[in-house]
Amino acid sequence: MEKPPRYQGRVLVAGATGKTGQWVVQRLLHYGIAVRVFSRNREKALALFGNDVEIVDGKIQSGSDIARAVKGCRAVIATLGSSSVKGESSPGEVDRDGVIRLVDEAAKAGIQHFAIISSLAVTKWYHPLNLFAGVLSKKWEAEEHLRAIFAKPGRSYTIVRPGGLKDGEPLLHKLRVDTGDRLWNGFINRSDVAELLCISLWLEKAKNRTFEVINESEEPQTSLEQCYNALPPDFPKIV
Ligand SMILES: NC(=O)c1ccc[n+]([C@@H]2O[C@H](COP(=O)([O-])OP(=O)(O)OC[C@H]3O[C@@H](n4cnc5c(N)ncnc54)[C@H](OP(=O)(O)O)[C@@H]3O)[C@@H](O)[C@H]2O)c1
Repeated sequence: MEKPPRYQGRVLVAGATGKTGQWVVQRLLHYGIAVRVFSRNREKALALFGNDVEIVDGKIQSGSDIARAVKGCRAVIATLGSSSVKGESSPGEVDRDGVIRLVDEAAKAGIQHFAIISSLAVTKWYHPLNLFAGVLSKKWEAEEHLRAIFAKPGRSYTIVRPGGLKDGEPLLHKLRVDTGDRLWNGFINRSDVAELLCISLWLEKAKNRTFEVINESEEPQTSLEQCYNALPPDFPKIV
């Protein structure tokens, strides 16, 4: 596989110990990029990544923990996800407030690019998934905050809204991308979402984009770069 243009700088991965996050770390290391992991569970992060990454442990509820984590990084990739209806892993705490706190601390620390996994149907308040403590609406609020804070000179963002997540190797599917939250269902491998997030670091055509993505067909790919070819920038258009 082709190597990208050399990417200078360290990337913070929040949610690295999750299923998609592990793929993000793996793909960043594949590209020779320095990785820092922000985790609430140092032992889990150490067991997964050993000495291949730098680990900063802390809570997503703590602005000062996040400030330590983002300091000295060039970009952030967030693959956080809630896992309970209430408490510290609820959609409100993680998908909305945790991400918003991360965005704010990243901006203060001079982070240049912020890439995040969101979800298909994130604008549809009436979607059944919102029965899980309003998870889609919480993600939408976090998206809005990211767009507002990172669509600024010297900063950029990429928001990937995948369909149902599956396990499996990357680059085995041709992908279908769209904007405007018009896709109702479909699946995609976590590894491909991770790849899209990683390549957004250096692809100019990935900057300030919000898009949906699902599998189109099984078909080996040499790169996912073409997914970004036809995507319009979010601004001045309102998404
Ligand atoms: N499942 C789907 O079909 C689907 C579809 C579209 C979008 N999504 C979204 O895709 C994202 C990634 O999904 P995934 O399956 O890779 O998720 P996952 O395996 O559950 O990983 C979630 C990550 O978030 C972290 N996290 C959870 N609560 C936290 C807290 N209170 N403080 C700090 N970190 C916390 C977890 O840390 P620990 O390892 O410490 O638990 C883990 O690293 C999620 O936002 C999900 O909503 C999922």
